[in-house]
Amino acid sequence: MKKLVVAIDGPAGAGKSTVAQLAAKELGYTYIDTGAMYRAVAWKVLQQGGEVTDEKILAVVPDIDVDLSYENGKTTVRVDGQDVTSEIRTPEVSHIVSKVAALGPVREKMVDLQRKMAERGGVLMDGRDIATNVLPGADVKIYLTASIAERANRRYKELREKGLAVDLADIEHDIAARDKADMEREISPLVQADDATLLDTTGMTIPEVVARIIGMCR
Ligand code: C5P
Repeated sequence: MKKLVVAIDGPAGAGKSTVAQLAAKELGYTYIDTGAMYRAVAWKVLQQGGEVTDEKILAVVPDIDVDLSYENGKTTVRVDGQDVTSEIRTPEVSHIVSKVAALGPVREKMVDLQRKMAERGGVLMDGRDIATNVLPGADVKIYLTASIAERANRRYKELREKGLAVDLADIEHDIAARDKADMEREISPLVQADDATLLDTTGMTIPEVVARIIGMCR
């Protein structure tokens, strides 16, 4: 069977990475988490300390080496050779990542890398602008969403399971702020592509969502 290029976009906490990883495993494809790449840049910016300004973000871009590898169903993210896979998931990173991802030079560098990773096909890439900008020629395009309450709840449970002390209201507020920033930014805003299939996962189980995605690919 032809190795497809699958694009999955959607707002924060829609469960994209969970279902995309499971679908990629079933299809034998490589999963590419583009959000992790923007998080990696945000992590490095936070390492500089102090207030996060556009100047500080832009200063990080030229030399940063972001490497995403996917092996045995697991994504590893490295910044300048250092494994930051868990460090990029903190609320501090989530809080500033949309500001980082709104800047043109950051996006240009990440989109270049993303297109190179998808060249050979057999990839399932998730993010905000995959169908509209990174891979407009993707074979399958899905816009995955869920109600804000459900998305906040899922993220809350995920972070609690990791042992982080988080507050549900804070998470919901952060997700809403991120959606607004991602949808209203000038460059490659989050929007459903005209030719993408809408998949609202509110009330659906993970296996149900994965089955729908696999069905669209077959
Ligand atoms: O997918 P995740 O929630 O980890 O993404 C973190 C942030 O990275 C998003 O809120 C968005 O600001 C940015 N992002 C983006 N374009 C992508 C993927 C993520 O701007 N393709």
